[in-house]
Amino acid sequence: MQALNDYLEVNKERFLEELLELLKIPSISADSAYQNQVAETAEFIKTKLIAAGAENVEVCPTKGHPIVYGEKLVDKNLPTILVYGHYDVQPPDPLDLWDSPPFEPIIKKTERHPNGAIFARGACDDKGQLYMHLKAFEGMMETNTLPCNVKFMIEGEEEIGSVNLGAFCKANKEKLACDVILISDTSIIDNDTPSITTGLRGLTYLEVEVTGPNRDLHSGTYGGGVANPINILSKMIASLQDENNHITIPGFYDDVEVVSIEERKAMNQAPFNLENYKNELNIDAVQGENTYTTLERTSIRPTLDVNGIWGGYIGEGAKTVLPSKAFAKISMRLVPHQNSDKIFELFKKHFESIAPSSVKVVVTPHHGGEPVVVPTNSIEYQAAHKALETTFGKAPIPQRAGGSIPIVALFEEVLGVKSILMGFGLNSDAIHSPNEHYGLFNFYKGIKTIPYYYKYYTELKK
Ligand code: BES
Ligand code: MN
Ligand code: MN
Repeated sequence: MQALNDYLEVNKERFLEELLELLKIPSISADSAYQNQVAETAEFIKTKLIAAGAENVEVCPTKGHPIVYGEKLVDKNLPTILVYGHYDVQPPDPLDLWDSPPFEPIIKKTERHPNGAIFARGACDDKGQLYMHLKAFEGMMETNTLPCNVKFMIEGEEEIGSVNLGAFCKANKEKLACDVILISDTSIIDNDTPSITTGLRGLTYLEVEVTGPNRDLHSGTYGGGVANPINILSKMIASLQDENNHITIPGFYDDVEVVSIEERKAMNQAPFNLENYKNELNIDAVQGENTYTTLERTSIRPTLDVNGIWGGYIGEGAKTVLPSKAFAKISMRLVPHQNSDKIFELFKKHFESIAPSSVKVVVTPHHGGEPVVVPTNSIEYQAAHKALETTFGKAPIPQRAGGSIPIVALFEEVLGVKSILMGFGLNSDAIHSPNEHYGLFNFYKGIKTIPYYYKYYTELKK
């Protein structure tokens, strides 16, 4: 590994410069105004994959944004790792809360990143993390140390629910055949405490529309006599959780996995400081189900959150109006063995049932995804454990994440292959938020760790 580690050290600055170029392209998948930039980003990834030594590299069109595929097959008797990542990013809004423009990456020191962090949308989620894989691969190619076969599948629609990737996988089962899927799109506990993500929550995302009168009304002339859809929607939403923050939708908890006392004990052993957590968020108290800790509330328990709510007049000054309509976007994070379609149906039925007859309600599904658990007793997991132990000098801790990567459950279903979630971000890196950043320490640590994964996985498979 010496030659490889030397190569990675010598080319460090260039790796960073290339990532900064990638971060300058606004690949916002949710906004059709950026379609060309999303396509440009796919081409960028393609070029860099070819330069690194990948073969059969192609930008595969889909009904939405393209998928970049590439491979290096050295020997069919050796195992094959499929690297998955996403080059699309979340919209950067609200722009005025960024200290520097989201697509003009800059490096600044922070308390958690004393060696500097790259500030840009996508720095951590997921351009910075996927780019570690390209550079680790380049290093292995250049130093003749690639120990197994590798395939890359980098998509451009993760942040909008990977809507076309499932079909792509079904249509390309042969091409994507592999032994393990390796993903860096999650977090470690902190830079002194490596961890491996052993679970992801599922997701049901939907939108509700509440309609009162057929037009906006004068709130004096009609107020008091006609239902206000915003008032009604607020009440309906408030009733979805009881005083113990328990979700009130009938049947919602029916399939929720009961995690054993031993496992709960183990997960609460992970380093976590509630005071620091509150201080970082500038809150005086946390909230949640009272029989669970914060770590449990954010990993093994399902949630219901309003992501956006609108209606009526929100311009400058005041307008006296009783609006015709009110809207909300609502997401529910799911845990094993909940099912996203079933939860959508339960929500819809319940929401319609609690609407007073003074309004009409429409519930529309967005994307969804199923929860995931990663077994820790597999060769695939052991390889990640050894790799992180080697580069951090400390055994990594298994930890379930609260976020979702819906395609992971589909990989298992369609390709029959399990994923390893070996991410290097920090929860404090502000992904999806203004001032998203990614530590240089984390970027370089990832590049160093990935080749060890290849090495240990290949050795353990023998
Ligand atoms: N990389 C995140 C998911 C994530 C982040 C998992 C941190 C674990 C730790 C991913 O890009 C993401 O944001 N997923 C979305 C779901 C998607 C359907 C929009 C999410 O979790 O909200
Ligand atoms: Mn991501
Ligand atoms: Mn994301």
